Amino acid sequence: MAAMDAHCRQRHPEHLRLVASQWADALEASGFDAVVVAAGHPRLYPFDDLAPFFRPNPHFALWFPDKQCEGAILMFAPGSPPALYFHSPADYWHAPARAPDWAAERFELRSFAEAEALEAAVAKSLHAHRHVAFIGENPPERWAVEANPAPLIHRLHYQRARKTTFEVACLEQATENGVQGHMAAREAYHANGSEFEILRAFLAGSGQTEADLPYPCIVGRNEHAAVLHYQHYDRTPPAEDHGFLIDAGAAHLGYGSDISRTWPGTNASNFAELIDALDEQQRALIDTIRPGLSYLDLHLAMHRRIAELLNRFELVRCSAEAADELGLSRTFMPHGLGHLLGLQTHDVGGWQSAPEGGESPPPEDHATLRLTRTIEAGMVLTIEPGLYFIPMLLNRLRQEASAGEVNWPKVEAMTPCGGVRIEDNVLVTEHGARNLTREAFAALDSP
Ligand code: GLY
Ligand code: MN
Ligand code: MN
Repeated sequence: MAAMDAHCRQRHPEHLRLVASQWADALEASGFDAVVVAAGHPRLYPFDDLAPFFRPNPHFALWFPDKQCEGAILMFAPGSPPALYFHSPADYWHAPARAPDWAAERFELRSFAEAEALEAAVAKSLHAHRHVAFIGENPPERWAVEANPAPLIHRLHYQRARKTTFEVACLEQATENGVQGHMAAREAYHANGSEFEILRAFLAGSGQTEADLPYPCIVGRNEHAAVLHYQHYDRTPPAEDHGFLIDAGAAHLGYGSDISRTWPGTNASNFAELIDALDEQQRALIDTIRPGLSYLDLHLAMHRRIAELLNRFELVRCSAEAADELGLSRTFMPHGLGHLLGLQTHDVGGWQSAPEGGESPPPEDHATLRLTRTIEAGMVLTIEPGLYFIPMLLNRLRQEASAGEVNWPKVEAMTPCGGVRIEDNVLVTEHGARNLTREAFAALDSP
């Protein structure tokens, strides 16, 4: 994991002050006088002594932006500085975690070689508190804590949507690294690289190992672009080149970017025009973002724009209005417009209707939408419209009454291209939105 750079480091103390004040309010509102947060441990594969890459509990990562924290415990009681019980075992199989240099400035830091001693020290410090919440997995019984109480978790999840300046700085850096990866991937594609070679170009360009990625890279040439989270990497380039979709991001101090681009192939008919048109619609939609707007309405507005593209590109025979009313756009864009972004790629609290809990799920025919909240300044969101030719969904549509409205020969001609997705990450401001992704491409991708 990257060390804390000067830009983020400067902003981290203020971030911690804000987090402490928000958590103090959330603890009081939910009736706790202290909270213990466990970073967690790697989970082993079944019947194995190996584990997938470790990812800390995001509630812990909010305070401590370094992945080297296995087994660490954070304790926070409002009015006192946060305490960090750091686990640094004697280990000759792995390089043991060491607390970074800034940790002692920000936390009451104690390091332990033995997990048992760490657990006992936490138990001792808990005596001073009456009602302690625990966030994580498997708290020791002797701590006598209440694990993951919903009233507290709801409040913490809800407020994570609005980012601090530290978090924005992390996301800016994650975006910059992701864009460097996308530029390298595009070059590898234009050199007719296989999906596997393009993946490696992305990793090298973004300066990441697989363990660093916020989510597995989606690298799809031709019809693979129609599989929304395509997970394989062909070792040889396809015989024909119809198009290429990449959805890949980079992480910085635990915060991840989530970026998609689509490029037309040399054999594509008017796929290039379709990509450009979707790109234009995506930017026009972002221009409408304002605090106070419902994200669900933004999603529905994008569906109207997709219906207009279906009509303009003669993929349907009916008007754009009719295509929208018949729900035809849902076959071509079967996912939501986007989601909250932060410590988790699909950040938490997207359906939450109030800090204390309650959910506003999307309407049934838009069930895959991950965000229904009112847009607020300080939120970081993805805007990721897509238009795909997915055989499974097209076959379903063929059975429906509205099948006659589809221009099937045109749809079949486009099917080898797979589909388009254009995904940017935007920071909502008081008056609109800053497009972090386009800013980074403009700064780094000079012709
Ligand atoms: N990369 C996953 C998503 O865009 O939501
Ligand atoms: Mn994505
Ligand atoms: Mn996304």
